[in-house]
Amino acid sequence: MDWEALIRRELGTMVPYTPGLREEEVRERSGKDRILKLSSNEHPDGPFPSAISAIEAELPELNRYPDGSCRALVDSLAERLRVSPDQIAVGSGSNEVIRVLSQALLEPGDEIVFAWPSFIVYQMMAQLFGATALKVPLAPGEVHDLPAMLAAITDKTKIVYLCNPNNPTGTIYHRAEFEEFLAAVPPHVLVVVDEAYFEFVTDPEYPDALEYFDGIRPLVVLRTFSKIYSLAGLRIGYGVMPKVLVEAVHKVREPFNVNSIAQVAALASLADDKEVERRRSENQEQKTYIYSTFDRLGVRYVPSETNFVYFMTDKPVEVFDALLLEGVIARDFGTAPALRLGIGTPEDTKIVCEAFERIVASLGGI
Ligand SMILES: Cc1ncc(COP(=O)(O)O)c(C=O)c1O
Repeated sequence: MDWEALIRRELGTMVPYTPGLREEEVRERSGKDRILKLSSNEHPDGPFPSAISAIEAELPELNRYPDGSCRALVDSLAERLRVSPDQIAVGSGSNEVIRVLSQALLEPGDEIVFAWPSFIVYQMMAQLFGATALKVPLAPGEVHDLPAMLAAITDKTKIVYLCNPNNPTGTIYHRAEFEEFLAAVPPHVLVVVDEAYFEFVTDPEYPDALEYFDGIRPLVVLRTFSKIYSLAGLRIGYGVMPKVLVEAVHKVREPFNVNSIAQVAALASLADDKEVERRRSENQEQKTYIYSTFDRLGVRYVPSETNFVYFMTDKPVEVFDALLLEGVIARDFGTAPALRLGIGTPEDTKIVCEAFERIVASLGGI
């Protein structure tokens, strides 16, 4: 069999997404019972109590297919976000929304533009459909360089992704920069703003991209239930987009792409704004504690608007391994001189900070 002839050419250069290490692997390696998995930007607490009740109530109905249109959730989101239900596409994670949008829009020869480092899935989904990904390096301070991103747009550009806040650096661009960008972006380009960490943001200058959504402008806003809502394991996220794009997405998505448990859990979670607020402020307190430890130890970091902190180190491999031996799983980026650390519970934060004290002492600074 000529496998190369069988498998699509685009897949040849693609690398599968690599998730962080699993807890079991690290338990064996470190000998620690308690492993802190801080590598995937998950929330340390379980789903909201209202979501767990909704899941339990739905279990006996699992013999049925889910509602392919996610009607109840879409209606609730539409009311909340003040958009029309036909401007919302729900996916099996916002990852799926990125894939179906790419599949609906991209053809060989098209280009996408996104910042780097940022979320690798934009590039993977572009490659999958034969499009070319143009990476625009972040500006000093690890922030999106919006003027450089504008300059990277060509006649072939179909999508520009803005990850705000950005994963992995945790940074945001501000309202004035975004408005300048929107005013200058050519009309043939779809701007996709990925707001996976929206609920963690506290900076008043943060532009909520939905405020700029009018259903006409080529703008998509992505959000997810995987982060502050703790439903990562269920896979559910959504995009707000002009109706024509929702219609295109319905043509390429699977008929029952979002499972029924995810739908009821997401709907129930939406009702609990108090819990969102509690999590946001607890997350903020943890970051403040980590920053003060880093400041004292001389660890350079980027102030974050998310539930993770990106910090610099000249010894990424040593620091990553030393954290593993402490039972802490961070996220590495090969030999890039930085690591990303998720925010856990207040107890996790104490353990992490104590681990850093030991690691910085034993490595003579990081
Ligand atoms: C920036 C960003 N976008 C999208 C996602 C995908 O989230 P999900 O598919 O779980 O909704 C993630 C997950 O880590 C992310 O960091």
